[in-house]
Amino acid sequence: MDFMKAEPFRIKVVEKIKKSTKSERKQWLEEAGYNAFKIKAENVYIDCITDSGTSAMSAEQWSAIMLGDESYAGSKSYYKLEKSVQEVFGMPYFQPTHQGRAADYIMAQLYAQKGKYAIGNMHFDTFRGNAEILGALAVDYVTDSGKDTTSPAEPFKGNIDLHKMEKLINEKGPNQISVVIITVTCNNNGGQPVSMKNIKEVSKLAKKHNIPVVIDAARLAENAYFIKQREEGYEDKTIKEITQEMFSYCETATMSSKKDGLVNIGGLFVTRNENILEQAQQLAIVHEGFITYGGMAGRDLEGLAVGLQEGCDEQYLEYRINQSVYLGERLKEQGVPIIEPTGGHGVYVDGRRFFPHIPQYQFPSQRLVVALYEEAGVRAVEIGACAFGSKDPKTGEEVLPEIETMRIALSRRVYTNSHMDVIANALGYIYKNRNHYKGMKLVYEGSVTSLRHFTAGFELL
Ligand code: F0G
Repeated sequence: MDFMKAEPFRIKVVEKIKKSTKSERKQWLEEAGYNAFKIKAENVYIDCITDSGTSAMSAEQWSAIMLGDESYAGSKSYYKLEKSVQEVFGMPYFQPTHQGRAADYIMAQLYAQKGKYAIGNMHFDTFRGNAEILGALAVDYVTDSGKDTTSPAEPFKGNIDLHKMEKLINEKGPNQISVVIITVTCNNNGGQPVSMKNIKEVSKLAKKHNIPVVIDAARLAENAYFIKQREEGYEDKTIKEITQEMFSYCETATMSSKKDGLVNIGGLFVTRNENILEQAQQLAIVHEGFITYGGMAGRDLEGLAVGLQEGCDEQYLEYRINQSVYLGERLKEQGVPIIEPTGGHGVYVDGRRFFPHIPQYQFPSQRLVVALYEEAGVRAVEIGACAFGSKDPKTGEEVLPEIETMRIALSRRVYTNSHMDVIANALGYIYKNRNHYKGMKLVYEGSVTSLRHFTAGFELL
């Protein structure tokens, strides 16, 4: 018997979190215009708005931070990070950036083109935004089951639909497609993984037409762990063997180190193409900083060099993925509808099935975010009609997205399963009383529709 199922760490430093009353939380919600982004963090009991930059660092990372070499050029810390990156990615060249979106900016500058398509499984906002500013056409070609929040569990719901990809190549011609970007794991549909087979086949098809393939690798280790668990032939491989194989099929990758890098800030641009590296370095010098620090302090390069390795530790990953499974199981016991299976970095509740009486244009998932905070001080985030809604450019009418969810993102090494119980109990209670809730009305949205979820103001109906 393996009795060692608990968290593979003990807690050396703690941070107090504040308990509050429901009437206080109601007031804070009203002051925030019912937008979770506008609630003060100190008024949150359990914060699940993101898994980004919120990891608890290890004793090894904190001690590495003391070794940070703050030299402007050629810092020792840069070379330590280089070694760590090469081991995980199996690619020779890299450029640090201050966070993932800065690497996305460079990626878009080098791989997106005006009027040409960028095919993705589901583009994350920051590459999409950078590509669209350049006039590129970003299309999401995740498989149909990956888009359907009610579809039964499948091992790899982050896969790209090869038929859709091939059809676009044939219809438009390969020179109309500037890049294929695979996001691992696929954040927007539940932290769902992409199989090695899919990465390989996408790459083969793209290569045949001379289209470069790149990877958005924010959650590379979680994806590799899923491959090890779910894909034949990988059960005996190490996580790093799997990540190296994943990247062997692409030319370039970006990474928000704030996820699987287990640090609070940082990003990476990694490539095997010397010419691309040279251009990335030029862009980095102008926008980020000199090549060997790229917008990061030397100490942060040190923390990341260690964090990348810890992120690939299998015992850590087992705990990490099982925490989502645990929360998912506790929710399912109570009938709460979620995307299945649970993903790498959290649990996504299906807003439409949770509140079937609230039409999508009245923001059911946002209503759930508000209810969860009001009942338990738990802060989650809407990924639905507000975040992904758009406007028809001709009529100005709202266009509603296919995905309508509330994401409960789990920070790494931060909360215990007792915290998961709080979330599950509160959601179970809200679910029992679901008929008492009505929808919401958007009363303020700012000038850029695709960014409105950060600044939106709502009223309760
Ligand atoms: N790519 C993916 C897949 C992401 O999830 C994120 C960030 C980024 C790129 C951008 O990285 O924040 O370091 O600039 N995702 C966060 C989230 C914000 O909450 O999912 P960044």
